[in-house]
Amino acid sequence: MCKDAIVYDNKPKAVTLEAGHSYYICQCGRSKDEGVFCDGSHADTKCPTTCLPKKVDIEKTKQYHICMCKSSKNMPFCDGTHSFYTEDDIGKKVK
Ligand code: FES
Repeated sequence: MCKDAIVYDNKPKAVTLEAGHSYYICQCGRSKDEGVFCDGSHADTKCPTTCLPKKVDIEKTKQYHICMCKSSKNMPFCDGTHSFYTEDDIGKKVK
């Protein structure tokens, strides 16, 4: 997790990812692509190293729960850490 990341949402987003594809998942919380896929918005962050997107190579087509609070210890997937955040935390920096 990057301290300059922004909480995009306080719950995960279910997204179907397809086998054989690589995806770049937003870790900075600023992507305008529903906060899921990197759109280059991390360029606005103060720490362009840890806020870079997380590349995932998918081996099995299925629905994955993408971390939208940008605080999971298993990025880019939800690990339940989002329960820490409330609606008021959305759009603010991660804690
Ligand atoms: S949405 Fe981030 S840990 Fe669940």
